[in-house]
Amino acid sequence: MTTVKLSLGPFQGITDAPFRNVFKKHFGGIDKYYTPFFTGIQKDHAKNLQVEEIDPLCNDVETLTPQILSTDAEEVLRFATQCKALGYKEINLNMGCPFPRVANKKRGSGILPYPEKIDAMMGRVFEQVDTKVSVKCRLGYFSPDEIVPVVEVFNQYPLSELIIHPRIGKQLYKGEADVNRFAELIPMIKAPLVYNGDIVSVDSFERIRNEVQPVNEFMLGRGLLVNPFLAEEIKGHQDRTIERLHSYVIDLYEDRLRHAGGSPKVLGRMKELWSYLMNSFDEPQDIWRKIKKINALKEYEETVETVFRDHYLIQ
Ligand SMILES: Cc1cc2nc3c(=O)[nH]c(=O)nc-3n(C[C@H](O)[C@H](O)[C@H](O)COP(=O)(O)O)c2cc1C
Repeated sequence: MTTVKLSLGPFQGITDAPFRNVFKKHFGGIDKYYTPFFTGIQKDHAKNLQVEEIDPLCNDVETLTPQILSTDAEEVLRFATQCKALGYKEINLNMGCPFPRVANKKRGSGILPYPEKIDAMMGRVFEQVDTKVSVKCRLGYFSPDEIVPVVEVFNQYPLSELIIHPRIGKQLYKGEADVNRFAELIPMIKAPLVYNGDIVSVDSFERIRNEVQPVNEFMLGRGLLVNPFLAEEIKGHQDRTIERLHSYVIDLYEDRLRHAGGSPKVLGRMKELWSYLMNSFDEPQDIWRKIKKINALKEYEETVETVFRDHYLIQ
């Protein structure tokens, strides 16, 4: 039994409040969650923060950290103030988003080549903020060397946590996470450090954990979307059954359907999840071919039953 701390990375369009709540009901092992990023916090009582996604009645403020994608210190402060009023203890700054339409505006991982901009923003944020502030970033946007001056900036501020996904923005999600580079950075970083990237099995977790000692906090991502048992398995709990997976998938669908007032728009989010989950089964491409073309609720329900009847979980 290992005492490692595990979180679930945010996924825009997948790990929303219904997902997090249903996941928590069915699976163990995850100690901390993050919302997918918020943007556009223009006012003190922003409409986009008056939603279930962040409502303390629908979320556990103790284990959820709201994330913002912004390089505007005043916006970050507005976000922090409103999160605090809702009961949250920490906010997370997204400096990892790799998508060109974000990064080209020097947001997300696009800010990493400009440590002076990060310094200016953080200087202003830490002057006033009264929540904890953590950061999630990559090694750089154009080059993995960009992280070094960025870490020098981070070290000047009391970050509650620094999560590093060791890819560069230009890579998007291609290639492999550079675990060696992450390991080299460990002695340079003052903030509590969290590793994120390519943890897809207990074996890959153990291998990475060995390489990044003494880091003891890990954020899981696509590996957990593919295999929702992963966090439990890493913590030494083996109870992988197709029945458990089946009831999670049904519960999530029904919950999403309730929230969407029965609208077929839930199919988009369920398909997005299946694009990962299919890899837990034999013949994933066969499953994906059937699921991706679905456009009616009834068809979805029948197809999912066929998948659980005709396929088995791979180990
Ligand atoms: C579709 C998609 C949406 C994502 N949305 C967010 C997001 O809103 N905020 C964030 O910090 N990371 C986001 N990520 C990145 C993941 O949280 C995670 O850092 C990434 O997948 C690397 O971890 P992994 O290799 O374990 O999957 C997203 C990734 C994908 C593929």
